Amino acid sequence: MAIEDRLEALGKLREESKLGGGAKRIEAQHERGKLTARERISYLLDEGSFEEMDAFVTHRATEFGLADRKFLGDAVVTGYGRVNGRAVYFFAQDFTVFGGSLSEVVAQKICKVMDLAVKNGAPFIGLIDSGGARIQEGVLSLGGYGDIFLRNTLSSGVIPQISVIMGPSAGGAVYSPALTDFVFMVKGTGHMYITGPDVIKAVTGEEVTHEQLGGAMAHASNSGVCHFVAENDEDCLDKVRLLLSYLPQNNMQETSLVEPTDYPDRMDEELLYIVPDDPTKAYDMKEVIRRVMDNGEFLEVHEYYAPNIITGFARLDGRSVGIVAQQPSVSAGVIDIDASKKAARFVRFLDAFNIPIITFTDVPGYMPGVDQEYGGIISNGAKLIYAYSEATVPKVTIITRKAYGGAYVAMSSKHLRADLNFAWPTAEIAVMGPEGAVNIIHREAITKSEKPDETRSQLVAEYVEKFANPYVAASFGYIDDVIDPRETRPRLIRALEMLQNKRDTNPPKKHGNIPL
Ligand code: HXC
Repeated sequence: MAIEDRLEALGKLREESKLGGGAKRIEAQHERGKLTARERISYLLDEGSFEEMDAFVTHRATEFGLADRKFLGDAVVTGYGRVNGRAVYFFAQDFTVFGGSLSEVVAQKICKVMDLAVKNGAPFIGLIDSGGARIQEGVLSLGGYGDIFLRNTLSSGVIPQISVIMGPSAGGAVYSPALTDFVFMVKGTGHMYITGPDVIKAVTGEEVTHEQLGGAMAHASNSGVCHFVAENDEDCLDKVRLLLSYLPQNNMQETSLVEPTDYPDRMDEELLYIVPDDPTKAYDMKEVIRRVMDNGEFLEVHEYYAPNIITGFARLDGRSVGIVAQQPSVSAGVIDIDASKKAARFVRFLDAFNIPIITFTDVPGYMPGVDQEYGGIISNGAKLIYAYSEATVPKVTIITRKAYGGAYVAMSSKHLRADLNFAWPTAEIAVMGPEGAVNIIHREAITKSEKPDETRSQLVAEYVEKFANPYVAASFGYIDDVIDPRETRPRLIRALEMLQNKRDTNPPKKHGNIPL
């Protein structure tokens, strides 16, 4: 056969592979408000950068009437390309072919690109839209999931891994996303659960919709499984691209840098007035973050989960930083079980990928209560201490107001190897708040007093004068400097410059044993 004819045949096969499960099923996909796998890939990647792999693979299951139902590429499109000019590897499940279900060969295709992503040190992205294990392939399909889980685990901390839930993700299939660093979900179409509403009704009698049980907001606010919520497929993929812009390619690369577009020595007058004079009044820590970071930009991670603590990415003079901060306007910024888990996992991600950690502290303490104790605030609260302690990336802390008790220690204190600890003049660093402290250490004086309220107020005032300030901690060197709030941005930028070549290590070990 002449080469021209061979090329024509190749072209025909390629066209066929692009049709997935056929025009009717593509139409049904669009009617559900979803893009197809290929449309998603072309939206995600830089224009013209998509290189497909394994387009001619077909399933090997010939039983159950599948022999004559073969589709080129089977139920997944895999390959590599570029996002913001940098390499990424990915798979996109094709719901139009057997509901995007995972066959033996689908798993093999996915594992092939995962292996390439690790070998070449580039982020791995999974676009998920799947009915789970290919029922007809039984244990071959289950084994395929196992092969993926293993690779997710071994790649953890080596390359960033991102899961994007754009359709069903049911059964054991949810565990691959759970093993990755960030989970995105599309409202209305992305659903994750280990068993769906029908099984739940049969087993427990509870009635719940797909969206209530496993929709984007359910996992963003209740379970914390989802880090980013999107309105539709396009919005979701825009957000993935934005996140990638903050990340290095792999754990050996230095922090991601972009050309700075904001003044490094910009001061901000408003920072002087953000912390209210009344220590019981709240303020918005996100306002502090935006005023300090490049161009006021802040990509919040886990926005709807444990909002009493804030986590997210920003830039300082073009360099990516991770931010952990209390939110005094939600439960006074207390650290509860969820807040500790959320922040600890984020700190570990930052440390794994050489991203400096900036911590803004205004914390009244760990959350008291029977629920919290029974829920394990002890071991869960320890996660944050563990994460900050083991982190060897540059760590800079700013105490804006309260830093009380164990939470003072946990929030990247000097004692956990923070490199630089700054305090605003409004900082109060103490074992506990003035009211609580006075009630304990002066109980007798207050109860014996003829005017207990007056005595208490006087003692509180004395306590505040003596202890609720940054200078006691600064006198011991636990605070490196008390700074003018307006200078926060330039001071942080100079701190990161100074820490640019930081080298620190942990003792040799197989791995630690974080209180999971
Ligand atoms: C084979 C499947 C399939 C599957 C769907 N299809 N799921 N084929 N294996 N797991 C096929 C359907 O037969 C149908 O084929 C097409 O995909 C579209 O499915 P529909 O049901 O028509 O679509 P829809 O109504 O939108 O419902 C989608 C769905 C539903 C919610 C995903 O199909 C569903 O519940 N599927 C089964 C989900 C499930 O229980 N999976 C196993 C989970 S356990 P045609 O030819 O008609 O287009 C698991 C274990 C993993 O995954 C363990 C890892 C350790």
